[in-house]
Amino acid sequence: MEWRKLLLLVAILALAQLAQAQSTKYGVGRTPTPEEIRAWDISIGPDGKELPPGHGTAAEGAKLFREKQCVVCHGSTGSGGPAPTLIKSDGTKKSKYPCLVPCVDDALVMSLHAQYATTMWDYINRAMPLNKQGTLKPDEVYSLVAFLLFKNGVIAENQVLDPETLPRVKMPNRDHAALAPEWKHAAPRLQGYP
Ligand code: HEC
Repeated sequence: MEWRKLLLLVAILALAQLAQAQSTKYGVGRTPTPEEIRAWDISIGPDGKELPPGHGTAAEGAKLFREKQCVVCHGSTGSGGPAPTLIKSDGTKKSKYPCLVPCVDDALVMSLHAQYATTMWDYINRAMPLNKQGTLKPDEVYSLVAFLLFKNGVIAENQVLDPETLPRVKMPNRDHAALAPEWKHAAPRLQGYP
């Protein structure tokens, strides 16, 4: 048989095999229940309507920032630690480690670059403290956000954050486009910028 014909035959056989594999039912998996979907659906949008009940202030957040070990990674003053800067400083104590993208330096902290305060609530609630994610209670997350926003000059020290007040916080970068550089395919994720 000519090699082209042989190749064609192999291709046809492979396709037939694939079609058969796709039509096979393996009997694994099931449709998730509404409760299961709700448990995964934890994202908080800009209007904050998914926020749970609770409240917090900067004073409570200041205590939690130490107790929950945020200081170990983010520095005792919220800057100069291995993890991104959370509280802007005079710039003399930058993080020692390579930046994560978007790199956050002392002038570009989440309290100042996030467009919505609800984003901070969502982020801390899901992702922090690193390695103990999901352990913070709603009141604690409200307090930590209040602390970080106060320390960056966004809200007053005595402002109480709750599901009503948090979405109404006027973020300094609310009306601007994202400050992060565009990520190009295959570019390293650990890099300094600018
Ligand atoms: C074990 C180290 C560690 C601890 C503890 C920790 N963090 Fe983080 N945190 C990180 C790292 C690393 C990142 C960057 C993650 C990334 O960009 O993928 C981060 C990112 C953040 C960010 C987003 C910063 C930005 O600009 O992107 C916030 C906000 C934050 N942490 C808050 C907290 C708070 C509040 C606590 C305490 C409840 C805490 N972290 C505890 C390591 C830590």
